[in-house]
Amino acid sequence: MALVSTPASLEQALPATLDNAEVLRIRNDFPVLDQLVNGRPLVYLDSGATSQNPLSVIEAEQEFYEQRNAAVHRGAHHLAVEATEAFEDARQTVADFIGADYSETIWTSNATEGLNLISYTLSTAGLWAAQGRGDAGLADLALKPGDEIVVTEMEHHANLIPWQELAFRTGATLRYIPIDDAGSLRMDQAGDIIGSRTKVLAFTHASNVLGTINPVRELVALGRAVGALVVLDACQSAPHMVLDVKKLDVDFAVFSGHKMLAPTGIGVLYGKQELLDILPPFLTGGSMITTVTMERAEYLPAPQRFEAGTQRISQAVALAAAANYLTETGLDRIHRWETELGGRMVTGLESIPGIRVLGPAAGGERIGLAAFDVEGVHAHDVGQFLDSRGIAVRVGHHCAQPLHRRLGLTATTRASAYLYNTTDDVDQFLDAVAGVRAYFRA
Ligand SMILES: Cc1ncc(COP(=O)(O)O)c(C=O)c1O
Repeated sequence: MALVSTPASLEQALPATLDNAEVLRIRNDFPVLDQLVNGRPLVYLDSGATSQNPLSVIEAEQEFYEQRNAAVHRGAHHLAVEATEAFEDARQTVADFIGADYSETIWTSNATEGLNLISYTLSTAGLWAAQGRGDAGLADLALKPGDEIVVTEMEHHANLIPWQELAFRTGATLRYIPIDDAGSLRMDQAGDIIGSRTKVLAFTHASNVLGTINPVRELVALGRAVGALVVLDACQSAPHMVLDVKKLDVDFAVFSGHKMLAPTGIGVLYGKQELLDILPPFLTGGSMITTVTMERAEYLPAPQRFEAGTQRISQAVALAAAANYLTETGLDRIHRWETELGGRMVTGLESIPGIRVLGPAAGGERIGLAAFDVEGVHAHDVGQFLDSRGIAVRVGHHCAQPLHRRLGLTATTRASAYLYNTTDDVDQFLDAVAGVRAYFRA
C-alpha cells in the first residue's frame, strides 16, 4: 500500500477553518478522548507535550504488524520486500509533508535525537577534516575556538544542551538572542549577535512555553548573510502549520512524531542533501555501510548513512499515516482553528485576577497554547486541581529552565490545543482556572 499525500486541491475545497461541528466529528477518530477522568469527560489540553492518535494511525501500525512485519532492506523474502516498501513509501510521504526530497529525510527517534545528531556530526567533522578524511568541504563545517553558535533564550533544552556540548567539544562559544518582556525575540539585537564568527544558528520555529512564532525568514536571512548553518526546531510548528523546509531555506529541521498524531519513538531530521552527503555518520553499525574491513568502513549516502541498526519501521509507517491525516484535514485550517482557540485561552486567562500569561498578547504571532502563572499557587497544585476536573495540562518548567529564570519563574501551567479541541474545552478550562485561587485560598 503506497501512502500518498492528499493533493492541495482537496484542501482548497474545504472551509477556511475548522469549527466545533467538524471538531466533534474529528474527535470520533480519537478513541482515547472518549473517557471519563475523575468522573468528568476528559478535556485534553496537553498536546504540546504529546498528541493523541487517530484510528487511521493506530490501524496503520497494527496493519503493518498483521500483514508485513519484517526487517527492511536486507531480506530476500516477500515480507521483507513489503516491509521495505512500506517503510520507504512512508519516508516519501513525510518528505512531501515538509517539502523535502526523499533522501534528505532521515528517521530519528525524536527531535532530541535529531539535534544531537547534528551537533555530534559537526564535531566529528572537525576530527575527520583534521585527519584528511572525507570530503574537503568538511573543513568548512568544523568548529574551532573563536567560532560561535547562536541560539535563542526561548529554546527547549533539546535545542540548547546539544549546542552547549558542541561548544565544549570544539572550544566554540555559545551565544543567544534574548527575548523581550512580552516573549518575542529581540530582533533589534539579532543582527549584532549573528556575525562573521557565527557557524551555527539554531532556533525554535515556535516556543513551547511562550507560544511565540519566530520570524524564521528574517533569522534565516541573517544566518545566510554570514554563511552560518541554520537549524530549525520545528517540534511545535510541523504538527500545526504548513512547514516547507525548502521555502524557508533552512539547512536542517527536526520534529517529533508524537506531537503530530503519531506514536512515540519516531522523529524526523531534514538536512540539505549537500550537507548530508559529506557529514560523518552519527551512530555506526549495520545497514549504513558499503564495505567493511577489520580496519575501517565506507558509508552509504543519506538517508541510510544516518540510520544505523534496525529501524522504527511500524512507527515510520504510522507517522506517514499521521501526516496524511493532517494533510487531508488541512494544515492551514488546523492552524487557523488553533489560533482561535489559543486566542480564546489567552484572552480568557488574562481576564482572571492573579493570572499572568506568558508570551505575546492574543492576536499576535503565536500558536494555540498558553503557559501561565497563578499568583500564590504552585503550578503542580494548579495541574492537580484541573486534573480533578478531568482537564489535562502540563506543569513544570517545560524543559525550558533558562527561559523560566528569565521570566522570574520556576514553573508554570501550560494548556495546549490541537485539532480535536473545541471552544467548549477551552471554556471548561477557563472556568476551572477561575476557581483555582479561591480553592487554595491564595
Ligand atoms: C520546542 C521543542 N523542541 C524540542 C522538543 C523535544 O521533543 P522530543 O522530546 O520529542 O525529542 C520539544 C518537546 O516538548 C519541544 O516542544
